[in-house]
Amino acid sequence: MDTLPDLVLFFLSLILLTFSHNVVANESTGAGAVGVIVDQSCRRGKEAKVAMEIAIQDVYHNMNHSFHLHIINSQSNPIHSAFAAKDLINTHKVQAIVGPQTWEEAQLVADIGNQARVPVLSLVDATPRWAADRWPFMVQAAPNNFIQMKAIAAIIDSWEWHRVTVIYEDTESSTAGIIPHLYDALRESGVEIAHLLPLPPLVSSSSMNEELERIKQGQCRVILVHLSLPLAIKLFERAKEMEMMHKDYVWIATDAFTNLVHSINASSISSMQEIIGVKSYFPKNESRFQDFYKQFRERFISEFPEEDNREPGIYAVQAYDAVWTVCQAMIESDYQEDGGHQKLLDTILDSKFQGLSGKIEFTGQKLAPMSTFQIINVMGKSYRTLGYWSDAFGFSKSLVGKVSNSSSMKNSLVPVLWPGSSLTPPRGWAVPTKAHPLKIGVPNGTTFQEFLVVDYKGSGNDFSVGGYAIDLFNLTVQNLQYYLPYKFDCFNGTYDQLVQQVHSKNFDAAVGDISIVSSRLEYVEFTHPYTQPGLVMVVPARRSRSNKAWLFMKPFTNSMWIITGVTTIYNGFVVWLIERNHSSELRGSPLNQIGTLIWISFSTLFSLHGEKLHSNLSRMALVVWLFVALVITQTYTANLSSILTVKKLEATITNIETLQRSNAMVGYCRGSYLARYLVDVLDFKNNNIRNFSSANNYAEALRTREIEAIFLDVPIAKLFVAKYCKEFIIAGPTYKTGGFGFVFPKGSELIPDINKSLLNLSEEGKLRELENKMLEKEKCEGDDEDDQEGSSISVTSYWVLFILTGGTSTVALVVYVVHCCRKLEDAMSQTTWKLMFSVIKHYQLSRKVSDVESSTNLQS
Ligand SMILES: *[C@@H]1O[C@H](CO)[C@@H](O)[C@H](O)[C@H]1NC(C)=O
Ligand SMILES: *[C@@H]1O[C@H](CO)[C@@H](O)[C@H](O)[C@H]1NC(C)=O
Ligand SMILES: *[C@@H]1O[C@H](CO)[C@@H](O)[C@H](O)[C@H]1NC(C)=O
Ligand SMILES: *[C@@H]1O[C@H](CO)[C@@H](O)[C@H](O)[C@H]1NC(C)=O
Ligand SMILES: *[C@@H]1O[C@H](CO)[C@@H](O)[C@H](O)[C@H]1NC(C)=O
Ligand SMILES: *[C@@H]1O[C@H](CO)[C@@H](O)[C@H](O)[C@H]1NC(C)=O
Ligand SMILES: *[C@@H]1O[C@H](CO)[C@@H](O)[C@H](O)[C@H]1NC(C)=O
Ligand SMILES: *[C@@H]1O[C@H](CO)[C@@H](O)[C@H](O)[C@H]1NC(C)=O
Ligand SMILES: *[C@@H]1O[C@H](CO)[C@@H](O)[C@H](O)[C@H]1NC(C)=O
Ligand SMILES: *[C@@H]1O[C@H](CO)[C@@H](O)[C@H](O)[C@H]1NC(C)=O
Ligand SMILES: *[C@@H]1O[C@H](CO)[C@@H](O)[C@H](O)[C@H]1NC(C)=O
Repeated sequence: MDTLPDLVLFFLSLILLTFSHNVVANESTGAGAVGVIVDQSCRRGKEAKVAMEIAIQDVYHNMNHSFHLHIINSQSNPIHSAFAAKDLINTHKVQAIVGPQTWEEAQLVADIGNQARVPVLSLVDATPRWAADRWPFMVQAAPNNFIQMKAIAAIIDSWEWHRVTVIYEDTESSTAGIIPHLYDALRESGVEIAHLLPLPPLVSSSSMNEELERIKQGQCRVILVHLSLPLAIKLFERAKEMEMMHKDYVWIATDAFTNLVHSINASSISSMQEIIGVKSYFPKNESRFQDFYKQFRERFISEFPEEDNREPGIYAVQAYDAVWTVCQAMIESDYQEDGGHQKLLDTILDSKFQGLSGKIEFTGQKLAPMSTFQIINVMGKSYRTLGYWSDAFGFSKSLVGKVSNSSSMKNSLVPVLWPGSSLTPPRGWAVPTKAHPLKIGVPNGTTFQEFLVVDYKGSGNDFSVGGYAIDLFNLTVQNLQYYLPYKFDCFNGTYDQLVQQVHSKNFDAAVGDISIVSSRLEYVEFTHPYTQPGLVMVVPARRSRSNKAWLFMKPFTNSMWIITGVTTIYNGFVVWLIERNHSSELRGSPLNQIGTLIWISFSTLFSLHGEKLHSNLSRMALVVWLFVALVITQTYTANLSSILTVKKLEATITNIETLQRSNAMVGYCRGSYLARYLVDVLDFKNNNIRNFSSANNYAEALRTREIEAIFLDVPIAKLFVAKYCKEFIIAGPTYKTGGFGFVFPKGSELIPDINKSLLNLSEEGKLRELENKMLEKEKCEGDDEDDQEGSSISVTSYWVLFILTGGTSTVALVVYVVHCCRKLEDAMSQTTWKLMFSVIKHYQLSRKVSDVESSTNLQS
């Protein structure tokens, strides 16, 4: 990294050694002289020069000390700067050099300053960490701005963009300084760099066009620009011509551009509208700054009349503060004293005051890195401030009062105006349009039509696709937050070839029963698995007798049992009630009678003993009941025997060890990863495995015992077993594999969204619904001799019989009760007559008696 400068330094030292002998020292200017090396051909240097001159004036007014400034124009040439430094030190006897603004110049000047033990205050805002160790006399008087990369990452993260194209100026300071920090910041927020595009400082228009064209052809629409002002202006003008400053594009600029955005003339700024940027922040409300601002405007226009705009920026205030620091330190360290360089350096490093750019305080030869940035949006002839970002608090609309403290700029800052004067945030990548839909590869002919089917209607390319995988993909895309047009394209070849096609961008994606396999991840990216991942063994099934203790209950459902019991007892009760008067057996104590009742109830089910009945009513009830009971018992017997002959399905082989011991052949569904898995992981011999390409082939091979078992991915196995539910069964453990996923090219912008949409569908239960629908479509094939195997008989099939017997018994009961009542009534009425008669008789008798008595009374 620094071998080249070393070499340059070596030759330079040689030249300077000879050169310096010819210089006559100018003793008279030695005292209180400060050397300045700036590049006055650029705006940055111009601002710095004017600011430093103002600083010298202000020092004089404030501290009653005058200093000479020896300003040398480096013309942005590092060698020039080196000569200038030598000259300043040897000829002008400057006590300190306030320095170059680019790292390339600063290195050489620092090296010379270090040899002469003259403090060099560099104004470079991106200095590597090792510089302080290498050049003890170098002081970084401009804070490092590396943290702005975190702000940029936070902006990108805020809008959920996942990829970014980076255009940077190919200088040593960007490659060594800012780019690694950008990498780090982007990695932390999970943002990928789509292209990293270095532009040489003197890039030709044609090669810039080429690069921009490449970006335009690509998918990524978020472009980060880290270029110096002239190069950035050139780039944006080109981009504007190529219609890349339009809707859907996002341009983000670093402070290399934004710190000078106020200086751009109206004609140039019109080509860079709606750029957002990160700008170094310094407080502008202080009265000191207001004074400086006034002086600066006056002086700047007189010194550089060619400049359109005379506002001071961060580079001006930094230069002002650097000169102030030096002068203050020189006064404090008594600069007249000879050989006081070390003392001066120490005093500079001990400086502590409030400068125009903020607090000036050095730790380890440098200012604390800049941690607050302004977020700006270029608009009209200038820009507007959207808010601020600081390392500690994140985004906030303002720095005073209540800090909003948000990690996303989405709702915490002023709304952004995006390119194309749009208020809706761009998606960040080239969205497929109706004219250019996504081209989705689909494998030609999979094993299960329910999973994926390519249906050729006629000849040529006229086909339709369908099945679970397609339905799910449709649903996933519909569930996205935006409209995504796509079309399917059939691919004739192996799955690995299909994956390669996606890799080489012949397809934008692939959908099908494509397994997520590590070797494929080298070329493409998969979404979340959309099926249950795993590999299972399917083997032929045999039937086994079930032997459960409660099997005898099985022929009837519980309600059937209850209804039968209730009907039985009811019928028994009716017969008992009717027959009670005729048979002596049915009398006795209540307990005895209940026993008899239950006995009658149940014995009728199994034997006929109608001859014992005496009443026609009970006979009627019993005959109907006997008929019903006959039907029920016969049904029970028949169903029980059918249940006993039906056997449960059972796997013939339950583990792979059995297969390996018997050296059996096993099959697998075509697809390259399975063969390797069977051989490498499950330890099958290479010539014991065989591939098949259709469900019928597997079934046939299993039936003919060509293979003993077949290994299938879980979703395929489920379909297979659903289709041949009488013959084959899943056995043994599930081996962990990747499952099926949708395939996208590496770094596709769609993947995060598709991942999210898929997870959302599975959380909402839609995935399961779809899978059940697919399995239901699969009709069970094979022998269906015992289709209604072992189903229990329920009341619904017999309700007519129950109503018949229940009705008959009830009729008998009613007739009997009515009959009894009438008898009772007869008996009752007879009793009443008798009673009435006796009452009347008694009355008449008593009349007679009273008559006799009254007559006797009269008589007496
Ligand atoms: C010495 O300094 C004086 C005053 O700044 C200047 O006029 C003169 O040209 C300088 N001489 C040389 C040889 O640099
Ligand atoms: C400034 O310094 C000079 C001597 O260097 C002194 O005569 C003069 O009084 C000072 N003026 C003020 C305002 O301190
Ligand atoms: C504006 O600035 C650009 C580049 O700095 C320059 O090429 C152009 O001539 C300027 N336009 C005007 C009108 O000054
Ligand atoms: C200037 O603004 C800063 C915050 O931005 C604040 O802390 C300070 O008090 C303000 N100073 C004046 C003089 O308004
Ligand atoms: C801002 O949020 C961070 C964590 O998100 C917290 O540590 C910090 O204290 C907050 N600051 C303020 C001023 O609320
Ligand atoms: C899936 O989407 C494609 C394209 O939008 C359409 O042609 C096809 O009919 C859809 N299939 C189903 C099953 O919805
Ligand atoms: C897919 O296979 C069918 C026959 O299985 C064939 O007719 C058709 O041409 C194939 N499609 C492609 C794109 O190769
Ligand atoms: C598709 O592939 C099969 C074999 O995999 C081949 O027989 C057939 O010709 C191919 N069809 C086309 C159109 O390439
Ligand atoms: C999408 O999901 C897959 C599987 O979980 C994961 O490997 C991949 O990294 C995810 N992609 C993104 C961009 O989140
Ligand atoms: C299928 O097996 C044959 C040998 O039996 C082999 O040549 C072929 O490559 C296999 N196909 C796949 C897709 O694994
Ligand atoms: C799925 O997405 C929809 C729409 O974005 C949302 O309303 C719903 O809450 C999400 N469901 C889950 C489980 O996250």
